[in-house]
Amino acid sequence: MFQILVADAIKPEGLGPLLEAPLVNLIEKTVEEAKNVLHEIDAILVRSATTVTEELISSMPNLKIIARAGVGIDNIDVPAATKRGIVVVNAPDGNTISTAEHTFAMMASLMRHIPQAHASLKNGEWRRSSFTGTELYGKSLGIVGMGRIGSEIVKRAKVFGMDVLVYDPFLTTDRAKKMGVTSLDLAKLLTLADIITVHTPLTPETRGIINKDNLLTCKKGVYLLNCARGGIINEDDLYELIVIGHVAGAAIDVFAEEPPLGHKLLELDSVIATPHLGASTKEAQLNVATQVAQEVLSFLTGKPVTSS
Ligand code: MLT
Repeated sequence: MFQILVADAIKPEGLGPLLEAPLVNLIEKTVEEAKNVLHEIDAILVRSATTVTEELISSMPNLKIIARAGVGIDNIDVPAATKRGIVVVNAPDGNTISTAEHTFAMMASLMRHIPQAHASLKNGEWRRSSFTGTELYGKSLGIVGMGRIGSEIVKRAKVFGMDVLVYDPFLTTDRAKKMGVTSLDLAKLLTLADIITVHTPLTPETRGIINKDNLLTCKKGVYLLNCARGGIINEDDLYELIVIGHVAGAAIDVFAEEPPLGHKLLELDSVIATPHLGASTKEAQLNVATQVAQEVLSFLTGKPVTSS
């Protein structure tokens, strides 16, 4: 019997392939709640609440596979897993559309001050002139990272009549041409964009890729979005540049530390924020749960996995 720990909130309907499989015992508990059975666990499924550290991996001597119901595997100590021969799988495309849509919702909300206007009206005020916004039409959108989500952002930006600038060292000239975007190096993109959105994974190379030095080269009044991973934009630098008025505002879904309780960015009126909701739709959660459940089942029954 394979013991599978579902440590984070993963959509139960998506776990179907595992629920129906013989020889599988699903344990839907947090790591803390399951501490007495960790030594028996063959597979662990997580979202982003559980950090799979080297210590946690060591406490599971039978562990064979770690599955991340989402794209980012930055909450998993992959080198520690690899050292033990443990396979790490994810769901690379199950939440692409949801994250792209959330980014667009954040962009529109940021430029039209929707959260601030909503709060003001609910507070009994009628302050129309305080919330004059800016159109997306005709603006230059700079996309940093042209993976699946970045590419979906391009499609939506074009429908809104935006001029799309992209930076991705892996993007070929041919693909940029086919997508109708202008491919630039990061330094150039930052000087030209009116709105900048990041869509890279968090790696040693991308941590702080947007920082005080290069933010100062952006147009005064630039807007920033991060619906990818906290830390890609240096948060202290972003705060400082908003306070001095160089950056006009930011929309942030992800933070270097989550939850970001008491975070100074949340005190700024021109910052709008959501609690890491990019992938939080019924559709995306079903997709990622089904994808990782299938991967775990394939692996445990000796079939190839596709996402590791
Ligand atoms: C991801 O990496 O796919 C998302 O951040 C998933 C999540 O919401 O946990």
